[in-house]
Parts: sequence; structure tokens; C-alpha cells
Amino acid sequence: MRILGIETSCDETGVAIYDDEQGLLAHRLYSQVKLHADYGGVVPELASRDHVRKTIPLIKEALAEANCTQADIDGIAFTAGPGLVGALLVGATIGRSIAYAWGVPAVAVHHMEGHLLAPMLEEDRPEFPFLALLVSGGHSMMVNVQGIGEYEVLGESVDDAAGEAFDKTAKLMGLDYPGGPLLAKLAEQGTPGRFTFPRPMTDKPGLDFSFSGLKTFAANTIRSEGDDEQTRADIAYAFQDAVIDTLAIKCRRALDQTGLKSLVIAGGVSANKQLREQLDVMMKKRGGKVYYPRPEFCTDNGAMIAYAGMQRLKAQQLESLSIQAKPRWPIDTLAPLASSC
Ligand code: KG4
Ligand code: ZN
Repeated sequence: MRILGIETSCDETGVAIYDDEQGLLAHRLYSQVKLHADYGGVVPELASRDHVRKTIPLIKEALAEANCTQADIDGIAFTAGPGLVGALLVGATIGRSIAYAWGVPAVAVHHMEGHLLAPMLEEDRPEFPFLALLVSGGHSMMVNVQGIGEYEVLGESVDDAAGEAFDKTAKLMGLDYPGGPLLAKLAEQGTPGRFTFPRPMTDKPGLDFSFSGLKTFAANTIRSEGDDEQTRADIAYAFQDAVIDTLAIKCRRALDQTGLKSLVIAGGVSANKQLREQLDVMMKKRGGKVYYPRPEFCTDNGAMIAYAGMQRLKAQQLESLSIQAKPRWPIDTLAPLASSC
């Protein structure tokens, strides 16, 4: 069985073709980063318009790359939420309409379920159950994953998501949008120990996160210490170190609480090298293992939507004929895979 996956929830247009026996056959990605750079963040209306321009050409390219025609496609998956409503509606309209025209089922995919399952695209895949740390630009969540659609949210951000905190801190340091990867690069030149940032919400029990105070801490540090090149790198180092350490402390706590042995990290921030390394070391010490997607599948992409869509297609969990986007869609309201089998 083959599925075409479409991702348009934010500022990346992603398209992929996934075969349940041969794996990923093609994937195409167009990033709108340059379009939004001048504004220092994603402008929703511009994002929607650009998805309109790019989605169909990317579908054509992906079909050509996979050496497929529409006759080889058994279903269309698209991101239905959460995300920017206009951007989601582009993918939902194109996906639902093509499925209708081609006479195949449509599958509405939850964007964060896509991220959560992205490590399944790799050879070294986790087995259920596992703990998932989902850290993207829009969400930070700790999830107990018992199976596909069996998600218990153990904790989440009470303010900024981890990626958002990286981006906002990077912006006040004069870095371009999205600043997360640029801040991580700057941190490589930083001096360990010159500054120590707090580890928010680690001194009391619970698995929720709060990252907005770190941005303020960074702003205050810049004000008091200046912003010469080395100081900026030292602040970047201290900020990144605090975010990663906080995430690691919460993961350790969640693993103790649940008894789970495998940890999945996914979402844009899981591309962070230091985060991967620190959690790798931590899981080895605990006799467990950490799994993450290759860097290009940490950030938004069509491959994860095609993969998640395939699981729902095989379980016959299909979308109705109406075109719907769900900008807010809690992950723990998804149906377990088995329920409709
Ligand atoms: O998952 P994603 O592509 O989009 C959302 O669903 O939000 O995540 C994008 C986020 C951005 O905030 C970006 O700055 C952050 O992931 N990010 C990183 C790194 N690469 C991407 N943050 C820290 N270190 C990185 N290497
Ligand atoms: Zn995402």
C-alpha cells in the first residue's frame, strides 16, 4: 500500500510518498524561512499563500521521484492540526480534494503524532511502550506512549514551547528567525560556567515546563554584561544548557514515574546536538535507550505525515468528505489504532 503525505501546518511545505513494505519512496520539502525572515517570525497569511503556490508542484515532484502515478497511490494523508488555520486549510483542501478526485481514502493526521512517530522512519526504531519528549516550535510535551493513539500527556509547557524559547532568546540576541539552530551554533563558542541560568520548575514535583523566564534571564544578562561576541556566545551556551538540563531532569523524573526504558525525542528541538548527546548519555547510564529521527525529520516534513497516515489508513480510520482543519487538537483525544480494526 502507498500513501501520499502532505504537511502544511506552519512554514514548511512537505510532501512524501510512503510504501508500507518498501518504506519512504520520495520526500520533498520547501521551507518558507526566507519569506518570513524580514518579519522575525511566521506571518500566517503569507504562509497560507505560499503553501497554495508550492504544494501541487511538490506533489508532482514527489510522484516523479517515486516513479509513481496517481494509480499507484492508495490514500492521501494531510496534516489537519494543530497549527495555523489558514496553512492547515491549504493542505486539507488539496489533500481531501485529490483523494476525492483519485477515488482513494483521505486521512487527517495530527501534526504532533507525526512528530512522535517520525523515529519509526529510521532503521533503529523504538518499540512500544516508550516515553516521548515532544519539543517543537509550538509545543513541549512529555507523553507516555503505550501504542499508536494511546497517549497520556504527563506534562507540557505552561508558557513558551522549547523551540519558541530558543527563537525568542535568539531574536533578542540579534539572530535571524528561526533562531534555534543559530543559537545552538553560537553556543558552540561559549565558555561553560561563565553564566548559570535557572532550571525552571525543577525544584517542585511535576512534569510541566516553563521556559519564558529564561528569555527574560537572557535579556537581563545582556543588559548587565554587554553583548560583545564572546558574551553573546557565553549567554547562548548558558541558555541552551539550562533548557537541555531542564528537559533531562523532567525526562528522568518521567522515566522513574512510569518505569519506561525507552525515550523518544522528536520535534524541531530534537535536532539539537547537545540535547541528543546529553539524553544519550543519560539513557545509557539508566540501561535504556534514546531514539530520534534523522535531523531533517526532526523539523516539519511530509514523511512523518505519510508514515502516521499509513498507520491510520491500514486501520481504516479515515476522514469524511468534508474539509476540516483543527488548529487546536489535543493529542490525548486521538483514537487508539486498535479501536476501529
Ligand atoms: O517541529 P518544528 O519544525 O515546527 C513546529 O511544529 O513548531 O520545530 C521548529 C522549532 C523552531 O523553534 C526551531 O528554532 C527549533 O525547532 N529548532 C531548534 C534546532 N533546530 C530547530 N532548536 C534548538 N536547536 C536546534 N538545533
Ligand atoms: Zn512541527
